[in-house]
Amino acid sequence: MSKITVIGAGSVGAAIANDLTIQGIASEIVLIDINAQKARGEALDIYQGAHFGTPTIVRPGDYPDAEGSDVVIITSGLPRKPGQTRLELAQSNVNIIKQIAPQVVPHAPNAIYIIVSNPVDVLTYVFHKVSGLPEKQIIGSGTILDTSRLQAQLAKLFHVSPKNVHAHVYGEHGDSSFVPWSLANISNNHIDYYATHSPDADRITWTCDEAARAEVEEYVRTSGAQVIKDKGATFFAVAMSVCHICKCIFSGAGTALTVSTMMHGEYGIDDVCLSVLTIVDRNGVRGKIMNALTEDEVAKLHNSANRLKEVISHIE
Ligand code: 2OP
Repeated sequence: MSKITVIGAGSVGAAIANDLTIQGIASEIVLIDINAQKARGEALDIYQGAHFGTPTIVRPGDYPDAEGSDVVIITSGLPRKPGQTRLELAQSNVNIIKQIAPQVVPHAPNAIYIIVSNPVDVLTYVFHKVSGLPEKQIIGSGTILDTSRLQAQLAKLFHVSPKNVHAHVYGEHGDSSFVPWSLANISNNHIDYYATHSPDADRITWTCDEAARAEVEEYVRTSGAQVIKDKGATFFAVAMSVCHICKCIFSGAGTALTVSTMMHGEYGIDDVCLSVLTIVDRNGVRGKIMNALTEDEVAKLHNSANRLKEVISHIE
């Protein structure tokens, strides 16, 4: 069975460990935190409920305990405060990731690493530079959560299951993210066509125009900040997204996800990490799907890349 190490036992790390346990995704989970007492408490709390689901070993540990991990999930870092953008967190969380990489990688050189801390695209890039690992082993959670927020919202508007919605968020996990609407489908139909040809056409209020799209994108972009404003932090939805990435890694089938990976000239973008649809499997990143984007969508992807490069150019 599989072993997963979660670094960072804050709200996000603990929620991930708990969800992994509930869903029976790993047989062993190691929780590591600079605050060893917190890691111990969270591990014990999760472990003591585990046997009601799939029995799982959940234990606190130190970096050597990551040995033999199939997946290592990094959630450490300062959380976003109300009103703060993800990019404003950059330097402090970059310093943390630079400290963690050399401590964990020698113990788990074959693991797939999932970077979750924010700003996730910048930290994924830094992790590439400092870890020395093959690129296919490094995945940033990127816009998987934004995509989930988008699909949930469109599902509501169109009265269908989110599983019937094939629409995705590309770019930065942040303010420059965008939806390639030209590719947005519901049950095999472009979203605009579906609005008028579905059995629910008479109660779908989607107007197929720029304003309707902009409203949905704004809802998705501001959802994280809204949750932070309301409850102080976001962790349940991101934890479910990260568990989904783990399931896709272990399934081996190859699943298309919007996760943050290193760009090598795709859409004319190089040397930055951001999200486009990417196939993830047992070996990590299999490759990107080069969906045909419109000129305008490619320009938006470049805008995300440029914003991220600007931040990267200012960090040490
Ligand atoms: C989120 O979008 C804060 O990045 C985190 O929920």
